[in-house]
Amino acid sequence: MSKERVIIDCDTGIDDALALVLALSRPELDIIGITTVAGNVDVENTTRNTCNVCHFLGRDDIRIAKGESKPLERESLKASGVHGVSGLRGWTFEKNYTDNLVSQDAVSFLCSLLKESDEAVSILAIGPLTNIAKLLREHPEVKDKIRKIVFMGTSYHCGNPTSLSTFNVLVDPEAFRIVAFAGIPFVSCPLELTKTAVITPEEVKMLEQMNTPVATFAASIINSYGITKIKSDEVIGGEGEEEISENRLKAAKEELVTLHDPATVAYVIDPSLFTSAKYYCDVETKGELTTGFTLIDKNDYYKKSDAERNLTLLESIDREKFISLFLDSVRRYG
Ligand code: BDR
Ligand code: CA
Repeated sequence: MSKERVIIDCDTGIDDALALVLALSRPELDIIGITTVAGNVDVENTTRNTCNVCHFLGRDDIRIAKGESKPLERESLKASGVHGVSGLRGWTFEKNYTDNLVSQDAVSFLCSLLKESDEAVSILAIGPLTNIAKLLREHPEVKDKIRKIVFMGTSYHCGNPTSLSTFNVLVDPEAFRIVAFAGIPFVSCPLELTKTAVITPEEVKMLEQMNTPVATFAASIINSYGITKIKSDEVIGGEGEEEISENRLKAAKEELVTLHDPATVAYVIDPSLFTSAKYYCDVETKGELTTGFTLIDKNDYYKKSDAERNLTLLESIDREKFISLFLDSVRRYG
């Protein structure tokens, strides 16, 4: 089997951790490195989480580099309400593991990985695009070593956390624009799609029943990820994982949970699970109400030629097959 050579850029994060569970188990992927970025939580936490998760999954062979701590031109924005203060609400690793962390920063690491590679590499970007934009700005010569960039983010009529923009774009819209217009094949997994890439409470129970360390880990963080909209009376103290009320944790177990980043990874493993179409896309960077909104020209208003359509938008996913792939991946860890 010919493997797809990939680099993962992530802001681990609950669904990033689940995406790593999926990606790191697959024989279809040759993961040559992982880089971290500030996003869901600060870069110290996203890096620590990434290192710990890879070690937990038994993949000490994959090197990890710490990336940018701030967006290109803006102040940081976090999603610790969704992912917990540590970024991995619902799980604590007994010890931190850092042997897989390299001393190079993410941009230099990405640059050397790409230059050293004798074939083009796909970048799976499941956090804000700060590292990737900086790489393209500072080392444009590596562009032809990038086969495609597959990104979790964009939307055309809904958003999170704002009404119109998706988190990974909202955090660093200037970076998004650099990547979108870099001339590299650019694929996005929009929020409209990931809202259908849900795991049901019954499927989470299947995970729990596997009763293996990785299945227990996945189920625990999925159950905590269900707490997307915490009401003030459900938070007992200030900020913190432990401070969500027991009732709310119980209720979260009854919710459908959206697997944004794992869905994005699934595209690289098996594109046949998806439908897609090409559109022209730009992003709002100066909006009073709409910063981070991705304009995806679905109505062909701009009459762009095929060559000018800079985005391959994933439009649907076969949910059943996706969840089977995810469960199968968890089983592979034994
Ligand atoms: C994206 O935002 C982050 O909070 C998730 O990790 C995912 O990458 C979903 O909009
Ligand atoms: Ca993410």
